[in-house]
Amino acid sequence: MKEEEKEQTQITRLDFLKTLWFGLGGLVTIELGGLTVAYLQPHVTEGEFGSIITAGNVDDFPPGSVTHIPNGRFYLSRLQDGGFLALYQRCTHLGCNVPWDQNLGKFVCPCHNSQFTQDGDVLNPPAPRPLDLFPITIENGVIKVNTSKPISRDKINSTDVVYA
Ligand code: FES
Repeated sequence: MKEEEKEQTQITRLDFLKTLWFGLGGLVTIELGGLTVAYLQPHVTEGEFGSIITAGNVDDFPPGSVTHIPNGRFYLSRLQDGGFLALYQRCTHLGCNVPWDQNLGKFVCPCHNSQFTQDGDVLNPPAPRPLDLFPITIENGVIKVNTSKPISRDKINSTDVVYA
């Protein structure tokens, strides 16, 4: 082999090695980027707050009842006419958890006494607006509530109520 051909072969091998190293470096970078994106995604487990929660069957909730669903952080309120609302348990004033008072028939916030009706409307300030809602779907008599994004509302509306 001539001296010139040897040199060309060496350059080609060197180029190949460089290309290989760049390729591997690129793959490692892409892999790390993918892992980082996966790590930063919110991790929501089925049945926990932030996911779709199965609250129960329609018949489990008598008209006029308010049932706390702790893992979903909401109250399932069944109105006297049979309609359902999933009310976020957070007060719209400063975010305290608002308990339902069965004896008084209303939600009463312990910190500054905001009060809300069974459908979440403000009875007593300082809460500036009704309790937030979560979307409800009812399929084959099973109530599912999507707790991924609460719906804020300025006033209550009859279209908020979901019927089986
Ligand atoms: S957080 Fe409920 S009254 Fe203030």
